[in-house]
Amino acid sequence: MFYELAASSWDQEEIDAMQKVIAGGFFTMSGNVKAFEQEFAAYFGKRYGVMVNSGSSANLVAVAALFYKKDRPLQRGDEVIVPAISWATTYHPLQQYGLKLRFVDVDLHTLNIDETQLEAALNPKTRAIVTVSILGNPVAQDTIRNFADRHGLYFIDDNCESMGAEVNGRPTGTLGDLNTSSFFFSHHISTMEGGIILTDDRELAELCISLRAHGWTRDLPADSPLFEHHGSDDFYEAYRFILPGYNVRPLELSGAIGRVQLRKLPGMIAQRRKNLALFQSLFGADDRFIIQRENGKSSAFSFTIVLNPHYQPDRRRVFAALKQAEIGHRIITGGCFLRHDVIRHYDYEIVGDLRNAQTAHDFGFFVGNQPHDLTPQIERLRGILDTLI
Ligand SMILES: Cc1ncc(COP(=O)(O)O)c(C=O)c1O
Repeated sequence: MFYELAASSWDQEEIDAMQKVIAGGFFTMSGNVKAFEQEFAAYFGKRYGVMVNSGSSANLVAVAALFYKKDRPLQRGDEVIVPAISWATTYHPLQQYGLKLRFVDVDLHTLNIDETQLEAALNPKTRAIVTVSILGNPVAQDTIRNFADRHGLYFIDDNCESMGAEVNGRPTGTLGDLNTSSFFFSHHISTMEGGIILTDDRELAELCISLRAHGWTRDLPADSPLFEHHGSDDFYEAYRFILPGYNVRPLELSGAIGRVQLRKLPGMIAQRRKNLALFQSLFGADDRFIIQRENGKSSAFSFTIVLNPHYQPDRRRVFAALKQAEIGHRIITGGCFLRHDVIRHYDYEIVGDLRNAQTAHDFGFFVGNQPHDLTPQIERLRGILDTLI
């Protein structure tokens, strides 16, 4: 394909890291995962990192942890504010834990939750807000942290699409009570599959650690306040369960690759941003195309285009031309979530209307970005769209 949605960011270093694990013969979660968790948390200035086997699992474990807090746990029937555009597994854990969703429209220019509607989204049952920075573009995280603090809400920042993005010098995925990242193939760093939860809260971190592996106590520190120690009776301590948990542990291979990828992250984001600068220079000043307005500093996961409805564009014709030119394209992060059949399984309300999410769904798409120079690809994309719209 001429212009792919994603490409590998690995070289011999990742292969060598895997070979070392293979030579050691120990594959289940151990020292490499632990080291990666510490390095990743330190990189983003957080106290705790809990690695899991995907970004989706990170969201699941994060939501579950809030249900088992000692103080003010979430309860079934509580309500949570969410944006109308995000990935399916941003929402699914909320449904699975019996929460009611309150959908807020996105801003058509940032594609992130429209923060001017947050107050209108509140009601006495609202207990949490989940946000996402769409495809690299930072959500208004300071405003959301402030809003959550004023109303006593938990804030989960699903940062699975925007590792390394920043607002006011602060990385996204650091201001939430719990913050999640994905290390899937196309993402800013890739560990095959993988994800992580970042937090500064010891109780939440230890809840995540237990929930990640069977709900047992084995991986918790000896002085964890989550359970009472019964001394040195190893027979019972070895298989001791305190929470209804999962097994979503990552492999040592993924931990080892993550350590290599993390060292490359600044360079990879710099290249992604160079591609973004070219994309912005070619599409930014042309009102036929609505591209994402950067809020702070995007980490440029990919490039979104919403064809300006004013020109009555024929998106199907555009898609046919992109297919012919071998340019990969997809709906923006799954589009408006309420347009998917799965919504019939959800308990939800819409705050106001979702006209921008619907516009992005009907007129938008994204093309890939990669940590490689994409000048010919982006220029060709521009040429094709210029003749079609
Ligand atoms: C916003 C968001 N959350 C969660 C996920 C899930 O991550 P994973 O594919 O690692 O399960 C994705 C995946 O792309 C995502 O875009």
